[in-house]
Amino acid sequence: MRLNQTLQAHILVLVVVVLIMSATNVSAQQSAINYDESKVPAYTLPDPLVLSDGTRVADADTWRRKRRPEILRLFEQHVYGKTPGKPAGLRFETTSVDKTALGGKATRKEVSVYFTGKNDGPRMDLLLYLPNNKKGPVPAFLGLNFYGNHAIHPDPGITLSKQWMRDNKNLGVVDNRATEASRGAGAKAWAVERILERGYALATIYYGDLDPDFDDGFKNGVHPLFYKEGQTAPAPDEWGSIGAWAWGLSRAMDYFATDPDIDSRRVAVMGHSRLGKAALWAGAQDERIALVISNNSGEGGAALSRRKFGETVERINTSFPHWFSANFKKYNGKEEQLPVDQHMLLALIAPRPVYVASAEEDRWADPRGEFLSAKHADPVYRLLGTGGMAAAEKMPELEQPIQSVIGYHIRRGGHAVTDYDWERYMDFADRHLRNLKK
Ligand code: GCU
Repeated sequence: MRLNQTLQAHILVLVVVVLIMSATNVSAQQSAINYDESKVPAYTLPDPLVLSDGTRVADADTWRRKRRPEILRLFEQHVYGKTPGKPAGLRFETTSVDKTALGGKATRKEVSVYFTGKNDGPRMDLLLYLPNNKKGPVPAFLGLNFYGNHAIHPDPGITLSKQWMRDNKNLGVVDNRATEASRGAGAKAWAVERILERGYALATIYYGDLDPDFDDGFKNGVHPLFYKEGQTAPAPDEWGSIGAWAWGLSRAMDYFATDPDIDSRRVAVMGHSRLGKAALWAGAQDERIALVISNNSGEGGAALSRRKFGETVERINTSFPHWFSANFKKYNGKEEQLPVDQHMLLALIAPRPVYVASAEEDRWADPRGEFLSAKHADPVYRLLGTGGMAAAEKMPELEQPIQSVIGYHIRRGGHAVTDYDWERYMDFADRHLRNLKK
C-alpha cells in the first residue's frame, strides 16, 4: 500500500514536470528569437517610390505632394499612431541661467515648457548647455534622456528631476524617484564637454516628462491633454508613448525658434534605442529638424521589421504594449503584411541628412537590418537630388563610417552611446549642417 502511494506520488510529479516542460517549450516557440542570418525569411519591401495606386514616383514634386504624405499617413495609421500638433497655450519660462557653468566653458540654461500654459499643468524641463567660446546662434544637438537631466552630467547646478523613474539602485533611483546619487549617473552617454568644444549646444529633456515609460493605459503623461469629451485612452490609430516622446522633441523645436542663442535651422536630433525610435519618428514628422541620428534604435526604429532578426514586432508589442499605436499589434507575427517598413521611415527624412549607427554585439537591434534600411532609403534621397548613401552595396567593416547624406557606422561593442559614436555624429553634423543656408 505504502509503495503504491509512493509510486502514485512519483507519477504525479512526473506528469507535472512534463506539463511544465511542454508549456515552456510552447512559449519558447512563440517568442523564438532568430539570430541566424540563414533563417531570415525571403521578403519583398514595399517600394517607397510607388504610390499606393501603383503609379511610379518619377519626380521630386510627386514625392513631395503625394507619396511623402501617403507614407506619413501609413506610419500614423499602422505603426506609431497620429500625433496632435502644438497646443495653443504652449508657454516657455527660463528658470535658471548660469554663465559660468562647467568651469566657465558653458552657459547652462533651464527652461520649463508648459503645455497648457498653466504653471501647475504638465510641462517638460529643457536643459541647455551653450558653448561660451562661440558667439551668436549656435547649432545644437537635441536628445531625450533616460534618467533625468541631472543624470547627463555631474554638474551640481542641474535641477534634480522629480518625475517618476524606473527603479535602479545603481543609478540612484529609489522608490521611482531620483536621489542626489543619480547626478551624472548617465554621463558616459553624453559627451558634453566635447560637444561644447566642437562648437555645438546641447539640449536635453527627460523622456518621462512626456510620458512615464510604463503601461498605465495612458492616464499619466501628455495623452490625456488631448482626449475628446468622454475619451479615456488613445484610439487604435492614435499615438502611444513613442509618439509622445517624439512630440516632446517638436515642442523643443518650438522653443528653439524663440531662443536667439540657438540656430534653430541647424538642430540635430539624436536618440538612443527606444529614444532613437522617437528621434526618427520626430524627424519624419517635423521638417524643422535639420538632421536626425539613430543610435542602436533597432526594431520599430531603423531596423527592417521584415527580417525578423533579433527583436520582432510581436516581441516589442508584448514587452512594451504602450509604445506604438494599438493598430500595430495587428502585425504581430505578420511583418510581411505591414504596408510600410522602416526604410520608408528614413525616406520621410529625405532630403535632410540621416545617420544610422549600429553596434556589433547589439544583435537584438539587428545591425544588418539597420544598415539595409538606410540603403533602401537611398533611391528617395537620390530622386530628391542628394547623393544618397555612398558605398551602399556592401555593409561596411567595423568602424569604417560612411558620412554621405545618409550616414552609417557599426562600431565594436554593445548597446550604448559611446564617445566614438558622438565624434562621428559631430563629424557628420560639421559636414552637413555647415552647408545649410542661414
Ligand atoms: C529593449 C527593447 C528595445 C529598445 C531597448 C532600449 O531592449 O526591446 O526595442 O530599443 O529596450 O530602449 O534600450
